[in-house]
Amino acid sequence: MSRTGHRTEVTPEERPDTWNPSGHPRAPQVDLRGRRFLVTGAATGIGLATADGLAERGAEVLFGARTWDRASPAVAWLRKRHPEASIMPFSADLSNLREVDRAAKELLAAGEPLHGLINNAAIAGARGVSADGFELTYATNHLGPFLLTERLLPLLEASAPSRIVMVTSHWHFDVTGIPWNRLERPIRSPLARLKRYRETKLMNVLYARELSRRLKGTKVSTYAAHPGMVASDIWRRIPQPLRGLFMGFMLTPEDGAQTQLRCAIDPTIEGESGLYWKRTQPHPPSSLAQDDRLGDRLREVSLTHVRRVLGDAAI
Ligand SMILES: NC(=O)c1ccc[n+]([C@@H]2O[C@H](COP(=O)([O-])OP(=O)(O)OC[C@H]3O[C@@H](n4cnc5c(N)ncnc54)[C@H](OP(=O)(O)O)[C@@H]3O)[C@@H](O)[C@H]2O)c1
Repeated sequence: MSRTGHRTEVTPEERPDTWNPSGHPRAPQVDLRGRRFLVTGAATGIGLATADGLAERGAEVLFGARTWDRASPAVAWLRKRHPEASIMPFSADLSNLREVDRAAKELLAAGEPLHGLINNAAIAGARGVSADGFELTYATNHLGPFLLTERLLPLLEASAPSRIVMVTSHWHFDVTGIPWNRLERPIRSPLARLKRYRETKLMNVLYARELSRRLKGTKVSTYAAHPGMVASDIWRRIPQPLRGLFMGFMLTPEDGAQTQLRCAIDPTIEGESGLYWKRTQPHPPSSLAQDDRLGDRLREVSLTHVRRVLGDAAI
């Protein structure tokens, strides 16, 4: 209740289509009943807000998280908000190629359609190498999502019209090149680890564009979506009180989710494949992100890395 005695909380069911408390542009209210979406990194932040937006519109949500334990409190919260919604677990550590392979095979074997894949999960500033020996941020933010997407492509094509959304960042503008020979060792300096985060976000834009070229003539569209600067767990490695200070000026996860939601569901942008989006609108990405030779090289290197772990028949 407000101080004037009026109820200020509005449930999702009561919201009009134009509900927009922050002024940030909103994804449209589309009826998604009968449509099925996989959102990775759905247990927290922008991913959870994206899963919420999909469930609110009636979609079936495959709830991607590292483990079921990690996901279950968020899934319980979502089921309470949307008792009618179908929310199914999709558990995999995306930094681990064998786990991604296993989870994708299980999804394909289930024989259900898939209308949207939202590659949202990511880390920033972490140290170490993955179980397969790749630098951890590269393994989590690009290589795992690359394998997942390639594996699910036949299903997305069979379920078309369908969409692939790569969640990227405007920080990709700061990148001057991809250090191809440094993707297989840990990074010591915290600043260099943030640089790697930016490089992986460039990879996300390049991959969305490269895929759209390859998928020309199909009804599978790709999108690279920048959510804006959002107060989420991704900043947890930044020390307090600095973190609290600058997070106060950021968007909420709900606002941040609007761009990837629009890319995933808006029927009016069905054919606008391969573009970079921010504040729910298309924008030119960095010139490096428009370099198709760089996109081809990224595919070649990613294939080499995946095949080294899973064998030549992997993709
Ligand atoms: N926040 C921003 O200002 C901002 C700005 C630009 C772009 N983005 C992008 O937005 C997306 C979502 O980030 P966020 O801000 O919502 O951060 P977040 O709350 O930290 O969400 C990231 C999610 O990814 C999951 N994840 C990380 N590593 C994983 C792995 N190996 N396997 C499976 N899941 C894994 C995390 O799960 P755990 O908690 O279990 O690790 C978490 O649920 C990211 O792609 C990020 O690059 C964010």
